[in-house]
This record gives sequence, C-alpha cells and structure tokens, in this order.
Amino acid sequence: MPADAVSILKSISSGKEYPLDDVRFASDDGELLDVVHDFEAVKSIHKITKEYFFKKRSLINDQPGGGVWHFKEMVLPEIHADHVVSKQEGNTRLYRSKKISSWLGLKYEKFYLKHEGENPTGSFKDRGMTVAVTMAKYLKQKAVTCASTGNTSASLAAYASEAELTGVVLIPKGNVAVGKISQALAYGTKTLVVNGDFDDCMRLIKEAQEKLSAYPLNSINPFRIEGQKTIIWETLMQMNWKVPDWFVFPGGNLGNTSAFGKALFEAYELGLIDRMPRFAVIQAEGASPFYKAYRNNFSALSPEKADTIATAIKIGDPVNYPKAVRSLKWTNGIVEIVSDGEILEAKAHVDAAGIGAEPASCATVAGIKKLLANGEIKPKETVVGILTGNILKDPQVIVDYHMKNAGPAANPPHDIEANIQSMKLFL
Ligand code: F0G
Repeated sequence: MPADAVSILKSISSGKEYPLDDVRFASDDGELLDVVHDFEAVKSIHKITKEYFFKKRSLINDQPGGGVWHFKEMVLPEIHADHVVSKQEGNTRLYRSKKISSWLGLKYEKFYLKHEGENPTGSFKDRGMTVAVTMAKYLKQKAVTCASTGNTSASLAAYASEAELTGVVLIPKGNVAVGKISQALAYGTKTLVVNGDFDDCMRLIKEAQEKLSAYPLNSINPFRIEGQKTIIWETLMQMNWKVPDWFVFPGGNLGNTSAFGKALFEAYELGLIDRMPRFAVIQAEGASPFYKAYRNNFSALSPEKADTIATAIKIGDPVNYPKAVRSLKWTNGIVEIVSDGEILEAKAHVDAAGIGAEPASCATVAGIKKLLANGEIKPKETVVGILTGNILKDPQVIVDYHMKNAGPAANPPHDIEANIQSMKLFL
C-alpha cells in the first residue's frame, strides 16, 4: 500500500487490526473483517459533502452521476485510478411504476425500485467485484475463486477476464439458472459443478483459500462489501439525499445486508444523512435461517438445508451473519419470509410492468406486499426496494410460469395459422 494508506482491516468485534494489504479473510480469532477508513484523513484532502458528490465527475469515464468509483474516497481511497479494474458498474436506474405501486398499495411518488440487474453482468455483484478484483490484482494474486448460486460466478468470470486472472467458480449441481451458467462459460472461467449445495461450495472455497492460496471473491472478502455500499449512496444521491423510511431487499449470504448497514452507518457518521432508514430483509420461506435467528432475538443461527425456486438465495448457512445482525441493529431492521408462490406472483407484476427481474429480486416486492398487509410498512411511507438481478438471468422460471399457466398473471402464447383472420382474434 502507498505510505499514505488511510484504511485498515479490522475484526468486527474483537477489534484486531491488520494492514490493508494483508491477504486474509478472518482475524486470528476467526472473526469477519471490515475495511475501516480513516475519514478524518480523507476529509483533509476532499470535502466529503453532498455537494461534493453532486458536482464531481466519475473517475472511470469523467461523466457526472454515480457508479462505484464515484465514491472512491469512501470505498478505497488509497488505490490509484490506474489500478482500477472497472466496467463502469453502477449508475443503475431508480424506477417508479404506476402498476407496481398500485398493486402494492403504495403512493406512486413514494415507491422506488433500484434496479441492480442493470449492471454490466446483470446483477449487483459487479459493484463488489470491481473493488475486490482491483485488490486481487493489486495484491498480485494469480487465481480468483468463488462459490456461487450463479450471479457471483457470472460477475467473477467477466472481471477475471478483464483483469487477466485465472478464474475458478464452484456452482451447486442442478441449482443454477441457465442465464448465469451461460455467462460463466461464455466469459471463459473454469466452471466446476459441485455435487452438493451452495453451502458445500462455500466450505470448499474457504479451504481452497487456506490450502491452495486461491483468492476468494465471495462476500467474505471485505472489499466486495465496500463496493456494494455504493448501492445505498447512489440511491440516496438520486433521491437528493432524502432518506426513505425503508430499504427492502432479499437476503441470502447476507452480503448486501452487511454492506448496506455499513453504508448508512458511514453516511451518518460523515453527516451526509441525519437519520437512519429501516431495513426489511426478505428471505424465501424454504431458505430462511436469518429470519429464524431474528425471531430468536439473534440468540443463534441454525444452518439449514435450503430450498426455494429463487435459486439465487437458496442458502442455508450465510457467511456474513454477524455483520448482518449488526446492520439490523443499526437500522432497527426486520426480517420477513415469503413463499415461492408469493415470489412468483410478485415477479409476474414486476415483469408485467415492463421492468422485470429474476425471482430472488422479486422476493423484495413480495416482502413489501406482505409487510404492508401486516402493518409493518405504512401506505404513506417512502419505500425503496432493491431489485438484485436481471429478468434474463432465469428465463426457465418465466417460461414455466406462463406456458404452464401456473398463476393468475400467466400470459401464455397462442398458436395460430398464418392468416389474418387468426390474428384478428387478438386485436
Ligand atoms: N439476489 C440475487 C439476484 C443474488 O444473486 C443474491 C446472491 C442475492 C439476492 C442475495 O444477496 O448474498 O448479499 O444476501 N447471490 C450469490 C451468488 C450468493 O452466488 O450469486 P446476499
């Protein structure tokens, strides 16, 4: 690191400190690590204010607006622009939708969907990947790995190719959506299909880090978390730094839950916001260890065998659990569960609004519906839902829903003869 490095690695509760260029993913006592920045040092160089972020131009393409590296001072201040491996990730749309807000029963002006599926490889993972791959390259790592339900592997594959690193991804057999596998194969990473589930893949990745020195790009890598913080800051900037009442998003391995809490904590510390919004983390009923821990006042996490149609969040033993608990405490947050049927119904509405997202993302919208029905979210409140992945990631779920007439919003295709009379019936 340069002599003027202002960030360190720090274990989340015992407070053990390590230099930023120490290649490690846990403290000596086995705790997760945070990247901790010395914001006083950063502020002596740049004025970290709302106006500063409004006015500045991006490090990557010299355009105004957002993106991960727009917030470089709060993500990785000491890295020189020449080292950054970027595909201009971020700068995603903040949609409003008359159809979805009226289906939910929220005010149109107060309901937003931040579409992270509109990143370069079609998911929010690119935000963390640009930072973690930049560090992998900076730290002279040769091989990068991940366990994945699909999106991390797609993102790793694209960034490893750009950075000319060897990429090896582990995916659970039979449980990854076709769009995501296609990307890993197409971008040229080594794709290993593991006879086991995501949690088995994750265990293998930790072992490979210890025994084979393979650099992991899962969210146990604290630099992934730094990049994903920018989802929150960019949303706030798009809302003129007005804090919504709620951020609602899906929880799987709980990287986003961890990153979003850290983003808000830091924004509050820096005076960019003057109050904390609340979090609602949504899990699938069949993959809900975080929900069960929440119901036990976080006395313990019991890993479980996960099962849901939303394969992206089919995770039974989330590695970021302690950081996620911290985020919920900071934000007076809640955890809710939704059934696969509720996910599919919400997805039909998100898709039919012309926005579209993959099943795990639509758990967000199903969760908002449920939280409005049980009174946790009030119809007058401002709600931001995060859509985490693109509609085209999982075409099989869409085709099955519509072609098999699987729900009330099904829109099956019709076979017709090649004449105008047959066509006329539909106009
Ligand atoms: N939504 C999508 C589309 C995802 O791909 C994931 C995680 C999540 C939500 C959950 O986010 O782990 O931060 O709580 N996908 C990982 C993967 C596990 O391998 O692609 P989280």
